Amino acid sequence: MKLYIINGPNLNFLGIREPKHYGNTTYEGLLKMICEHATKIGVEVECYQSNHEGDLVDKIQETYYQKIDGIVINPGAYTHTSIALLDAVKSVGIPTVEVHISKVEEREDFRQVSYIRAACQKTITGQGIAGYLLAMDFLCELLSGGEKK
Ligand code: DQA
Repeated sequence: MKLYIINGPNLNFLGIREPKHYGNTTYEGLLKMICEHATKIGVEVECYQSNHEGDLVDKIQETYYQKIDGIVINPGAYTHTSIALLDAVKSVGIPTVEVHISKVEEREDFRQVSYIRAACQKTITGQGIAGYLLAMDFLCELLSGGEKK
């Protein structure tokens, strides 16, 4: 089983940007946690980050050709603006979990819209970077025949 872990704009600045919302772990620290967890649960992962919407669309489309089983995506601010990312996830038809490090539902009004959510099996918010690991567990269970929603 192979998962893509995709991060959108400014997530490469984890540990630097607004620690109150996003904590102190760096992006490199996040990658290390993800890789360790992947080994523990027996899944293969590839991590990708871009600050560019079209590059994120390309990466999502790649899952179709690379026979990827699931996607964990934190689209950053594109969550609230991008129909292109929604369409990309719908196009590939691969189980996808939307992750937000912060509790978006308790933040500004403009963060209350998520376009991509309509194409996702699950949304995880406000769990810090542990949210990525929970998303991996969810996909692992779903893809190995679990019923969890
Ligand atoms: C975020 C929340 C978004 O509103 C914000 O633009 C981000 C990060 C989160 O992980 O909590 O860049 O997706």
